[in-house]
Amino acid sequence: KTTYLEFNVTWVNRNPDGLHERPVMGINGQWPIPALHVTKGERVVIAVSNHLGNETTSLHWHGLYMNGTSYMDGPPGIAQCEIPPGESFVYDFKIDQPGTYWFHSHTRGQYPDGLRAPLIVNDPENPSKEEVDGEIVLSFSDWYHDLMRPLLASFVSVTNPTGAEPVPKSALINDSQNVTVAIQPGKTYLIRMVNMAAFASMYVWFQGHSMRVVEVDGIYTEPTEASMLYLTAGQRYSVLITVDPSGGTNIPFVASMDEELFDDIPDDLNSNVTGWLVLDNAKELPTPSNVDTFEALDDMSLRPLDGSAALDKVDRTITLDMKMDNLGDGANYAFFNNNTYVEPTVPTLYTVMSSGQYSDNPIVYGSHTNSFVLHGNETVEIILNNNDDGKHPFHLHGHAFQVIARSEEDAGSYSEGNTLSTPAVPLKRDTVLVQPNGYAVLRFRSDNPGVWLFHCHLEWHVASGLIATFIEAPLELQKTATIPPDHYDLCARNKPPVPTLGNA
Ligand code: C2O
Repeated sequence: KTTYLEFNVTWVNRNPDGLHERPVMGINGQWPIPALHVTKGERVVIAVSNHLGNETTSLHWHGLYMNGTSYMDGPPGIAQCEIPPGESFVYDFKIDQPGTYWFHSHTRGQYPDGLRAPLIVNDPENPSKEEVDGEIVLSFSDWYHDLMRPLLASFVSVTNPTGAEPVPKSALINDSQNVTVAIQPGKTYLIRMVNMAAFASMYVWFQGHSMRVVEVDGIYTEPTEASMLYLTAGQRYSVLITVDPSGGTNIPFVASMDEELFDDIPDDLNSNVTGWLVLDNAKELPTPSNVDTFEALDDMSLRPLDGSAALDKVDRTITLDMKMDNLGDGANYAFFNNNTYVEPTVPTLYTVMSSGQYSDNPIVYGSHTNSFVLHGNETVEIILNNNDDGKHPFHLHGHAFQVIARSEEDAGSYSEGNTLSTPAVPLKRDTVLVQPNGYAVLRFRSDNPGVWLFHCHLEWHVASGLIATFIEAPLELQKTATIPPDHYDLCARNKPPVPTLGNA
């Protein structure tokens, strides 16, 4: 089955927190942008037209492996050129994985301006389908009153030498507030949750009800009870909730921003947003009770349902030491191994295609792309040392990875001989939280030829260069990828990209 869609990207005015009206990026005049629902095995063809007038754009399908179609993954400078105002571009790919995903602009600063929505891949073989009476999709986000472009210009500038990230004003559920969802007593709901925030992680709980986690970032898990979840930017969960058969009161649920991420907490910050599962419209919507212990489920305790054992016999280890620091221009940047990412003019994937036998030499990709060339069908290990005092959610395109180890805060570097034991069946997901001054060890099989980004999903840190590029099986890619000609046309129609360094 093939689904054909047209996405016209335009500015519309909205006031999602009831405090401030501003322009947001919508699709086909709609915002909130409705969730995209597809079925496993489906091919989708989406013609994206850029009617923004003043900005280029692109779309990324967060969590989809894009097996065989890495050129449809979306990031400009990696998989394609930007779509200029007045132009269009066709995304065409097949979806072979079930679960909860989202799509968002991968052009700098755009998804926090609204260009994002959940992407749900329905699975006719969903292991919990017998139990489920209904499905609910909830997205969470932080919200800024200013547009991202001016915020980014002052964020990466001499006026902000410490790299303090702008603090959002409000939290949103489904890009709005006071969301209500009709439910019935005694029924079981599959609730799919996506955190689409630019910055804030969210604590999420349903008053008086525990959740059974059944999916994490598209990976089915052994059902695991949780009373509270923590979702970083980019993370997803699905949970089952069974409503009390005797009815009772309408059920408040809360998304609360993790204020530890913020350098300062303004007086007017609205950290919490409440929604309600509504049994009876005639009954009141209760105020949620205060919670003072934020004890969220430790995602390391989640086991994939297929019981996949930890990959052993590592063929390739990549150590990434990350830090935030100033460059000569006085602005604050993020670094992997002392190198800050700068988007190349020619998308890295096109360089793979044009560089023949030299494509397995990282030098051809330039010294500011943090490029690592992976051979096909190897077990790759990433050791990520966070030498910064902030929390960072790291996301890998093209794969889900096993989380072999994740330290507590202040554990120091893994490379210093500081190790944890490997779980027999480790957590598998595509976006993982790394603790302040701590580390994570991730593994995956390089079985998906393509060019894949690995980056912090905080949009501020994407802007400050916290990005690496994995060039996976380039020689194989040259043989198998058939990049449609409109890709290269797009580059010809493009204006030069906005440089990342010293842009203030
Ligand atoms: Cu949702 Cu490159 O990310």
